[in-house]
Amino acid sequence: MVTDRQVAADAPIGVFDSGVGGLSVMQAISAELPHEQIIYFADTAYAPYGDRSDSEIVERSYRVTAWLVEQGCKAVVVACNTATAAAINTLRERFNIAIIGIEPGLKPAVQRSKSRRVGVLATTYTVQSEKFKRLVEAFAADAQLSIQACPGLVEALEQPGEHAAQLQSLLIRYLEPMQEQEVDTLVLGCTHYSFLREAIQSYLGESVEILDTPKAVALEVRRQLELRKLLSLNSETFSLHRYLTTGSDVRVICAVMQSLIHKKIEIEQIQE
Ligand code: DGL
Repeated sequence: MVTDRQVAADAPIGVFDSGVGGLSVMQAISAELPHEQIIYFADTAYAPYGDRSDSEIVERSYRVTAWLVEQGCKAVVVACNTATAAAINTLRERFNIAIIGIEPGLKPAVQRSKSRRVGVLATTYTVQSEKFKRLVEAFAADAQLSIQACPGLVEALEQPGEHAAQLQSLLIRYLEPMQEQEVDTLVLGCTHYSFLREAIQSYLGESVEILDTPKAVALEVRRQLELRKLLSLNSETFSLHRYLTTGSDVRVICAVMQSLIHKKIEIEQIQE
């Protein structure tokens, strides 16, 4: 077991997702903690997680986290609602460093909604998970929820060449029910969907408030590092980040990532 005592404040933060979606979380962490070094791990070979079984998601999350811990990461951020729902408890049992997850922002959404009609978009796995059911019971018992699983959206973002043409029709299919139910607040319960925010907003109109949770995760990362006295001591320079993928077509993956985060990066391929 790796403990806090073995990691140093100048060690990197590991961030992983099934693919490019967690970059939305990485960007929020980097904005909140610009002096922290981040290793971003896109498990592209196994994306999407949202159509996989419990045991597959737990296995992949474990292997990716173990790899990040071996690299000396001082904290691991599960930048994926699906992997958080399936694996966060296992990861926290197995690794004694800060493991920070992400979940759909139902609580703030219900608080902010005036009509108490709230929509949720997430992966098939997330909406069927026990963790999500508990979230609904805890924070949305008296709200009218429209919960929508969105298969295909992740693929449309991961492989725009092959699937971009479907993106528009998928958005219409998943957003129409939100309009019919007249939701006034919509939760983006998958980190990939943060990159579709503008398209979703323009479809639903400005009267619908869209909420996602990368910023809240970044604040939690800060809190956890402060608590453990592990915030980076480097306050002079802005840190460089590393990007890795298990996917085979590194050139395409790099192009997709660059188009999402609007900067030039290099990606290392990894077999794990
Ligand atoms: N971006 C992930 C999430 O937040 C997973 C998407 C997927 O691989 O299905 O759920």
